[in-house]
Amino acid sequence: MLYREINKIEFSIIGMGTWKTFDVSSQSDLTVRQSIIKNCVASGVNLIDSSPMYGESENIVGQTTKNFKEHFKFATKVWTKGEREGIRQIEKSFKLLDTKYIHLLQIHNLLDWKSHLPTLRRLKSEKRIGLIGLSCMNPHDYPLLIKIMETESIDSIQIPYNVKNKFVEKNILGICKDLGIGVLAMEPLGKGEIVHNISPRLNLTELTSVGIETWAQACLTWVVSNPTITSAIPATSRPERILENAKAAIQLNQGLRDLIEFAIHNQSSN
Ligand SMILES: NC(=O)c1ccc[n+]([C@@H]2O[C@H](COP(=O)([O-])OP(=O)(O)OC[C@H]3O[C@@H](n4cnc5c(N)ncnc54)[C@H](OP(=O)(O)O)[C@@H]3O)[C@@H](O)[C@H]2O)c1
Repeated sequence: MLYREINKIEFSIIGMGTWKTFDVSSQSDLTVRQSIIKNCVASGVNLIDSSPMYGESENIVGQTTKNFKEHFKFATKVWTKGEREGIRQIEKSFKLLDTKYIHLLQIHNLLDWKSHLPTLRRLKSEKRIGLIGLSCMNPHDYPLLIKIMETESIDSIQIPYNVKNKFVEKNILGICKDLGIGVLAMEPLGKGEIVHNISPRLNLTELTSVGIETWAQACLTWVVSNPTITSAIPATSRPERILENAKAAIQLNQGLRDLIEFAIHNQSSN
């Protein structure tokens, strides 16, 4: 596993999202998430992304990482309106995640960002959080995202980026590179659709020679072979897919990236 830094905090280039996949409550579902977490530890995946918007996710992350707190870098979000309500929600996140330190606290989809930024700055100065971030999934909000990145002190952003959705390459990623802002790529598998829509009869030979065994690995390799991306954060409800996804990105270079892009576009249009 390779790691990239945002302001001296090291994140695995393949992390893990938890939208839907960690919003579970039964004992059997909890057992599966425990296996997912063990496979993250075994394969060097250290970044877990959550949000109060994801139902039980923070609670399940908190429970399943009980014995592995030192291993993980926790990322979550504030997703509410008003400064007081934001503070209440963030304090609840510390409890649910069962941690005294949150490595990355993001404002979810920029919701009421002006109210939350002073809180995040205070928490950072108190060393209770490591980094201040923004998540933004709707291109209509990108002008505002850019304005905040250029005028406030932001450590990282989280945006959708995958081989079928390169919209952020137009201007967002260039600004991140210039300003040294980290980037978490949400939806790196296009919510799973890119892989599901590719014919299972695919021929991966050109890619297997460089260690890529599955289309999911190809998609993830493509995302993180852009050096401006800190981490891709695919979500999964299947423990074996953590091991599969973590094996992406053995090699990263522009030639391979072009080859993957060509192969995926070619295959999914058939
Ligand atoms: N506004 C925001 O802040 C925002 C918005 C969207 C997403 N996010 C974050 O980004 C994370 C990732 O985005 P996402 O979950 O929407 O989409 P994604 O990671 O692109 O896709 C997740 C889907 O891919 C499937 N999958 C995972 N690994 C696979 C593999 N090796 N082979 C085949 N299928 C595979 C999963 O199915 P299985 O469960 O069956 O494996 C799941 O249905 C979220 O979980 C969340 O943390 C943030």
